[in-house]
Amino acid sequence: MRQGQRVKYFVQLMLIILLRMDKQGLAAKMAVNCLKGIHMAHLGLIGIGVMGSAFAQNLAEEGHDVSLLDRSADKMAETVQEAKGQGLKGQLIACADAEAFVKSLPKPRSILVLVPSGGPLDSVINMLKPLLDKGDLIADLGNSNYTDTEKRVADLEDTGLLFLGMGISGGAEGARHGPSIMAGGSRQSWARVKGPLQDSAAKFEGDPCCDWFGPGGSGHFIKMLHNGIEYADMQLIAEAYGLMSNGLGMSATDIGTVFKGWMDGPLNSYLVEIAAEVALATDPKTGAAMLDVILDKAGQKGTGRWSVIEALHLGAPASMMAAAVEARNISADLEMRAEMEAAFGPSPQKISTSQADAVAALEQAMIAAKVCAYAQGFEVLKRASDAFEWDFDLAAIARVWRAGCIIRSVFLDEISDVFDKGVAKHLALAPVFQEHLKANTPALQSVVVMGISNGHPVPAFTAALNYHNMRRTGRSTANMIQGLRDYFGAHTFERLDAPGEKFNGPWHD
Ligand code: 6PG
Repeated sequence: MRQGQRVKYFVQLMLIILLRMDKQGLAAKMAVNCLKGIHMAHLGLIGIGVMGSAFAQNLAEEGHDVSLLDRSADKMAETVQEAKGQGLKGQLIACADAEAFVKSLPKPRSILVLVPSGGPLDSVINMLKPLLDKGDLIADLGNSNYTDTEKRVADLEDTGLLFLGMGISGGAEGARHGPSIMAGGSRQSWARVKGPLQDSAAKFEGDPCCDWFGPGGSGHFIKMLHNGIEYADMQLIAEAYGLMSNGLGMSATDIGTVFKGWMDGPLNSYLVEIAAEVALATDPKTGAAMLDVILDKAGQKGTGRWSVIEALHLGAPASMMAAAVEARNISADLEMRAEMEAAFGPSPQKISTSQADAVAALEQAMIAAKVCAYAQGFEVLKRASDAFEWDFDLAAIARVWRAGCIIRSVFLDEISDVFDKGVAKHLALAPVFQEHLKANTPALQSVVVMGISNGHPVPAFTAALNYHNMRRTGRSTANMIQGLRDYFGAHTFERLDAPGEKFNGPWHD
C-alpha cells in the first residue's frame, strides 16, 4: 500500500472515531480539514470541454477540489451541476476569469491545461504567465508534440515557473473513470501533482496507470508512440474487416461476432472489443449496419505521423505505423480513389478460401502482426531513450498501458513482465513472444498472400511480415546496396573476411 493511502486510511479511521464522539460536528470538521491537508489537493483545470469536464469530475470524485476556467461559462456551470448531482467528495469551482481562477488556488499553484495543442495552449500559457508566482506549475495534458514540450519546459523554467508535459489516454470515458497518464518534466514538478493524478488514473490490479518517465518532452514522446501503436493496431483491424467484408462477403454483424470471439484469446484488447461494438451497431436512421453508412475517409490529428517521422530520425523501424498513416492519407482523397477505380476497375476481389479457414488464419495473423506492432513501438522508445538520455524504464511504460489507455490489451501485461525480468534484448526474442510469432507467422504469411493475390490492400499485415522476416534474416541483401554505393560514390564497404576494415571494389579498374 502506498504511504499516502496508509495515511488516508489512518485519518479516515480517526474521522469515524471523532464522528462517534463529537455531537457538535466541530471535531469532525477539523478531521476533514486535516484529511484534506494531508492528502487532498486543490488544483486548477483550464479547458472544460468533454475531456476537461470528465477529468474535473474524476478528480472531485477522488476528493480533490478543482477550480475551473473555460471561455464558456455554460460548460463550467454544467460541469459543476453534474458533479453536484453525483455528490462528489471534492468541490468544483467555476471561475469568472483568469484573475479569479489564479486567486482561488492555494500557493504554490498547480494548474492542469486540457486545450488543443499548439496555438491554443500557447495562448493559455501567455495568459497565465503574468498572473503566476515563481514555483507555480502548469501541466499540459494535451497531445502536444514533444519538441514543443521541450521548449516550453526550458522557457518556463527560465522564468521560475514549472512545466510538465503529460500524455493522457482513454478518451472521455477514461478521463472520467481512470485514464492512463504518461508524465515528463522535472521530478520536482511531478512530485507536486503525482498524488491527485495517480488517484484519478486507471488501476491495473491496484497499481495506478500513471507515472513519470523522465525530463522535458519525454512524457509526450511516450504518448506519441502510444498513438503510433494505436494507429497500427487500428489499421490491422480495418484490414481484417476489409478481407472479411469485401473478400469473404461477410455482413457487418458476422464480422462483429468474429471480433467478439477474438476477445476470448490473446487478442483481448480494448480496440478489438470496440471493433466488435462498432461492427454490431445499427444505424438508428436507416436500420442498416452502422459501418455500412459511415463515409470511408479517415481523419488524423498528427500523432501517428509524428511517430513515423521521429522513428525515421532515430533510425528505428516503424513500417506498420507508416502503413497506417499512409492508408489514412490515401483514404482521405475519396475523389481520386473514385476516379482511379473508374480507370482501373475495382481492386478487391472475392476470396475463394473457405470462410472458416480464412477467419481462423486472420485471428492468428492478427496475433503475429500485433506482436510486430508492439515490437516496433518499443524499438522506437528504446532508441529515443538512448539518443536523448532519458533512461526509460520500458517495463514501467508497458505497465501504464495495461489499463485506461486505448491500446490496453492482455499483451501489455506480458510485455511489462518481459522487460521487468530483462530476459530479452528485443521483445520478439522473449520466450513468450517467440512462441506467439513461431505459432502464428505462417498464418500471417497466408493472410498477406490471400490479400495481395485477391487485390486487397493489406499494408499493415504486409509491413508486419516484412519487418519480422527482415529482422530474422542473418545474411541480408545489404551487400548489394553497399556494392552499389561504392560503385557510384566510392563510399567503401567492409568484407566478410576482414571486419572493421574499409575497401573499395574493383569496379573502375
Ligand atoms: C487516446 C487517443 C487520443 C486521440 C488521438 C488520436 O489515447 O486517448 O489516442 O489521444 O484519439 O488524438 O487521434 P487521431 O486518430 O485523430 O489522430
